[in-house]
Amino acid sequence: MKIMITGAHGLLGQKLALAFGRETSAALLLTDLPPRSFFVHERFDYQQLDITRLADVKSLVSSFRPDVIINTAAMTNVDACEEDRRASWQLNVDGVKNLLIPARRIEGCRIVQLSSDYVFDGRHAPYDEQSRPMPVSYYGRSKLAAENALLSSHVPGAIVRTQVLYGTGFETRMNFVSWVLAQLEKGLPFRVVDDQRGNPTMADDLAFGILRMVEKDCRGVYHVAGPESIDRFSFARKIAEIFGFDPSLISPTTSNEIGQGANRPPDSSFITLKFTSECDVQMSDTARGLERLRQQYREGYSHTDLLSDSRFSSIK
Ligand SMILES: NC(=O)c1ccc[n+]([C@@H]2O[C@H](COP(=O)([O-])OP(=O)(O)OC[C@H]3O[C@@H](n4cnc5c(N)ncnc54)[C@H](OP(=O)(O)O)[C@@H]3O)[C@@H](O)[C@H]2O)c1
Repeated sequence: MKIMITGAHGLLGQKLALAFGRETSAALLLTDLPPRSFFVHERFDYQQLDITRLADVKSLVSSFRPDVIINTAAMTNVDACEEDRRASWQLNVDGVKNLLIPARRIEGCRIVQLSSDYVFDGRHAPYDEQSRPMPVSYYGRSKLAAENALLSSHVPGAIVRTQVLYGTGFETRMNFVSWVLAQLEKGLPFRVVDDQRGNPTMADDLAFGILRMVEKDCRGVYHVAGPESIDRFSFARKIAEIFGFDPSLISPTTSNEIGQGANRPPDSSFITLKFTSECDVQMSDTARGLERLRQQYREGYSHTDLLSDSRFSSIK
């Protein structure tokens, strides 16, 4: 089997590379924006690819002829998407269409498209796959448009909606957990909203879940997230407890008070029964996920040559 991963240097992209590299014998083509990759290992091929460049996408997809394309590449900063709508549409929607064009010409080629809880307005949780999307941000609109592009194409595939991703990797962007840890390390009081709720999802688990979905040839929409619905303030306190910081440094605030650039759904908690029953994957709850993450940090997981041979074989 041949698997192509876009955005492979991102948090989920790295975890997917590790999961497929370790658990399968698939030929793996990793792609992202930089000309070179830190993925230096015989299990991986790497090619620079900007998915907004249709000619490049066509050329790479038609020469590699993947059985599966997993598209993690996206503009993921929700406030930046609100500010630069054109750029977010170009990447989150047109980029997906660019992948669909050559994929359609390859017999049997399927796509796994990453999507988000932000396709929902957050007023009717918990959400299952039948729930009606109604985004309240431009990011959410762009992710929903990408879903629709895939569903209305003739390319078979799965839409994986996930949320509140956390984990560590090589030079990854800040996520909610790494932001809370950075604040706690300063030792100063700070505030976290208690009116946004969802299911934190360990990126390692999500990658493994996607691997199972690919093996089982899952098609259609899937909600894939951690099993626990929790508000951000309580989650932040839990992070402090598990990482040995003082939880009383964190106090609650509201979305209105902090005034984020884009609207967020107040409660986008998921029902994940379809995924868990079809794929038989146990996702970590916050206590277990954070413990595993703490161990990864302790081992220097994020600050060393993540994918050198010795580390690659030692990551479990
Ligand atoms: N993070 C979350 O909490 C969350 C929640 C729900 C859904 N999701 C979805 O899950 C997916 C993966 O998220 P993530 O957190 O792993 O994202 P991420 O860490 O931001 O990774 C995205 C990767 O795509 C790359 N990229 C940016 N523009 C590109 C382009 N034009 N062509 C090719 N690659 C490009 C990025 O490179 P640069 O870093 O250089 O820009 C980055 O390496 C996304 O589709 C996201 O919408 C994420």
